[in-house]
Amino acid sequence: MGRTGRSMSRRQFIRVSAGTMAVLGGAASRLFAGGSDRIRVGLVGCGSRGMGAVRNCVDSSPNVEIVALGDLFQDRVAAGLALLKKEDDKDWSSSQPWRHVDQVKVTPDTCFTGFDACQKVISCGVDLVLLATSPHFRPMHLKAAVAAGKHVFMEKPVAVDTVGIRSVLASSELAQQKGLAIVAGTQRRHDPKYVEVMKRVIRDCEDIATPEQMPKFLGRNLFMLLTPRPSAKAKQQVTQGSEQKPATP
Ligand SMILES: NC(=O)c1ccc[n+]([C@@H]2O[C@H](COP(=O)([O-])OP(=O)(O)OC[C@H]3O[C@@H](n4cnc5c(N)ncnc54)[C@H](O)[C@@H]3O)[C@@H](O)[C@H]2O)c1
Repeated sequence: MGRTGRSMSRRQFIRVSAGTMAVLGGAASRLFAGGSDRIRVGLVGCGSRGMGAVRNCVDSSPNVEIVALGDLFQDRVAAGLALLKKEDDKDWSSSQPWRHVDQVKVTPDTCFTGFDACQKVISCGVDLVLLATSPHFRPMHLKAAVAAGKHVFMEKPVAVDTVGIRSVLASSELAQQKGLAIVAGTQRRHDPKYVEVMKRVIRDCEDIATPEQMPKFLGRNLFMLLTPRPSAKAKQQVTQGSEQKPATP
């Protein structure tokens, strides 16, 4: 999720989040219009990305609270909660050390394990559910969240087979009817930098890849194109530095 200013109202938060990410279900500007000034968030799937998603979400506004955690396994929930309670911790997905322990409102009563953990997180009075399990469960978790009237952020991939994809599309339609937002973690596809580079590559590189080959060609290369590289001068300094080092015995 994108990082935004910390002095943001609940409504601004949703508007900015929706503007910077892929909203499948739409209707984001109508969210929380009549709610309290807190966004209560529940996480399902306390793995690497789940923890990252919680941090990104809480980082985005002081009005966000993480109130429930769910996972198949007790040790994953415990490890996740311990991480969220660890002030100043920093992982690869966050640009700043974690300083929002005060926004972690999870209690033993709102930690859930087992295959019904998702349903229990949803039933905790949350506004937004983060779905970050392995993708096989995503369609059924999404369906349950939308049925319960919750907004959703879900990691990619959103499904692993056609049955799952159809289910996700049906949930997306229902979400739209209910005025719920579904945001997927495919935000790079909507990042103006990426979109512009993709347009240019497609325009200028027709001779090296056909339109059918293009998505595969673009996947890794696009990422590399947009990754800042050390300048020639910086590279030279590194090389010179290593040349000056005494040889190891
Ligand atoms: N890690 C990344 O860098 C990254 C980046 C982008 C997308 N993703 C996507 O995010 C998702 C999660 O990835 P991860 O790396 O965090 O995986 P992970 O294995 O570290 O975490 C997944 C967690 O979900 C739990 N889980 C599985 N099924 C469950 C269920 N039915 N109910 C409740 N909990 C369940 C597992 O026990 C585990 O703790 C995947 O779809 C992955 O493709 C990951």
